Amino acid sequence: MAPNYSHLVALLLLVVISLSSFGNCQYDEDTKQGASYIFGDSLVDAGNNNYIPTLSRANIPPNGIDFRASGGSPTGRYTNGRTIGDIIGEELGQPYYATPFLAPNCTGEAILHGVNYASGGGGIMNATGRIFVNRLSMDIQVDYFNITRKQIDKLLGPSKAKERISKNSIFSVTIGSNDFLNNYLLPVISMGARITQSPDAFIDDLLNHLRGQLTRLYKLDARKFVIGNVGPIGCIPYQKTINQLTADQCVALPNKLALQYNARLKDLLAELNDNLKGATFVHANVYDLVMELLTNYKSYGFTTASKSCCGNGGQFAGIIPCGPTSSLCSDRDKHVFWDPYHPSEAANILIAKQLVDGGPKYVSPVNLRELRDL
Ligand SMILES: *[C@@H]1O[C@H](CO)[C@@H](O)[C@H](O)[C@H]1NC(C)=O
Ligand SMILES: *[C@@H]1O[C@H](CO)[C@@H](O)[C@H](O)[C@H]1NC(C)=O
Ligand SMILES: *[C@@H]1O[C@H](CO)[C@@H](O)[C@H](O)[C@H]1NC(C)=O
Repeated sequence: MAPNYSHLVALLLLVVISLSSFGNCQYDEDTKQGASYIFGDSLVDAGNNNYIPTLSRANIPPNGIDFRASGGSPTGRYTNGRTIGDIIGEELGQPYYATPFLAPNCTGEAILHGVNYASGGGGIMNATGRIFVNRLSMDIQVDYFNITRKQIDKLLGPSKAKERISKNSIFSVTIGSNDFLNNYLLPVISMGARITQSPDAFIDDLLNHLRGQLTRLYKLDARKFVIGNVGPIGCIPYQKTINQLTADQCVALPNKLALQYNARLKDLLAELNDNLKGATFVHANVYDLVMELLTNYKSYGFTTASKSCCGNGGQFAGIIPCGPTSSLCSDRDKHVFWDPYHPSEAANILIAKQLVDGGPKYVSPVNLRELRDL
């Protein structure tokens, strides 16, 4: 009796059909998963500063030592592995890391998979980060997105471009720390601003500028936003070291300024949610998230929340930035801080996962998975 092959044939046919449609629709499949357009400072810079003349650079070892995609070579990321922006993209199923805007390969279809405009030393204000000679401030980052926006029109045609930007793209903004650390709180270089402006007036100025910047992105069809608040900048190893604190102390003034700014930021995002039709502004409460890690670091598997893994100087290795001559810890995933300023990849993973799937204590009115699916 001849065996009945009909099931087998049907199955093979199905496999062939699905394989071929996968091949044809590779681009559509990839784009459906969405992209990140990332704005901000060194917390999320993925290499832009490699291409500008600046004193703020992370493309030297051992930065990137745990970054798998580069085989452990430095990329310009200010951490040992992935940034929060990289991890969020992965968690949301985006097939590529956002490419640095200034990188030579940030052309053609690559821009549909996300672009990163962030720059170490950058801030909301143009004057922020002057100590580094050069950096991309937020106004310039938005100017650059305006360029990308026109390129996307050319690639997809205006109507598909608009749909992709408004529905399948997440705009993340991680900025503000440098406006305090490398502007308002910086003696000498920015003394002017601090003498002439009260904290309230300075914070007013910051939020008015940020409102303008976010509104410009909205005018360019961005609709899904996530804005990080400023973390506990009085608790970074640099601040602890120069102020000669003990391991569990933080410097009061920087944290106080951050909290003051953060309260007003929350109001601004509520205002924009009301006033900019069709847009969702998600508030990412980085301050409380990082404070939780610092306070309960042991329960997250860390052995220190005060000493940087890569750095030199003082009790917390908190003065000289990470570079080839730095002392390097052997248990990188046991340190909350990679260097005097920036969290380790292990900390970034915990932060990113809360933002993607966490509740309203840390991310509101929706988390990033819900934002993607809106
Ligand atoms: C662009 O180049 C960077 C650095 O060489 C690399 O990591 C990245 O994967 C490239 N991106 C694309 C889209 O080719
Ligand atoms: C900041 O610099 C940008 C780019 O050079 C410029 O367009 C903008 O007007 C400046 N903003 C202020 C407030 O000076
Ligand atoms: C984008 O650039 C064009 C000039 O090419 C300018 O007219 C427009 O105002 C810019 N849009 C924003 C939101 O900056």
